[in-house]
Amino acid sequence: MTTEAIDLDTLSEQIAGCTKCGLAASRTNAVPGSGNPDAEIVFIGEGPGFNEDKQGLPFVGAAGKFLDELLASINLSRKDVYICNVVKCRPPENRDPQSDEIDACTPWLTQQLGLINPRMIVTLGRFSMSRYFPRASISRIHGQAQVIDGVLVVPMYHPAAALHQGSLRKTIMEDFQRLPALLEQAMAENAEPPEPEPIQMQLL
Ligand code: URA
Ligand code: SF4
Repeated sequence: MTTEAIDLDTLSEQIAGCTKCGLAASRTNAVPGSGNPDAEIVFIGEGPGFNEDKQGLPFVGAAGKFLDELLASINLSRKDVYICNVVKCRPPENRDPQSDEIDACTPWLTQQLGLINPRMIVTLGRFSMSRYFPRASISRIHGQAQVIDGVLVVPMYHPAAALHQGSLRKTIMEDFQRLPALLEQAMAENAEPPEPEPIQMQLL
């Protein structure tokens, strides 16, 4: 294997054929991710469920419908953002992903983030949160942005958890409302410094 730069589509093809952990055996399709390869925001969920496994696309079931509503509430759609998961293959019966599966899959996510290079990462649920905040509790830190390795990371509740619980639903909706201002702040802080004025040669 060479280390020459690849694009996100090529990476997705590689993920689709991955057999690095036991989840490969029971999947129908790997779910690499979808959206805008130049996105400023990347959303990271947990792992594919039943519908995602069938279609090979992230967040296409009930949680995905709610995620679409949340995006629409801040005037975004899927083509503006990139959406992926901590593990790319469905854990059987939607069980939690195991740490060996997360460890095997993490290099894919790291490569995706390296290629997209977003300004902001929104983690959905505790498995993606713990990539950035290993010991944190979601009930304490949800909605609070922190710069990690130069990227603004915002932990959020998982839409599937929030979907059916009135109070969490309200919380995740409120947390989403803060994203546009946070993104603006991230864009301003990471803005390219202005081009220096060209220095005029002094004619002697
Ligand atoms: N839940 C997730 O975490 N990811 C999906 O893609 C779908 C549901
Ligand atoms: Fe490969 Fe990740 Fe699927 Fe495991 S979950 S087989 S590491 S793509």
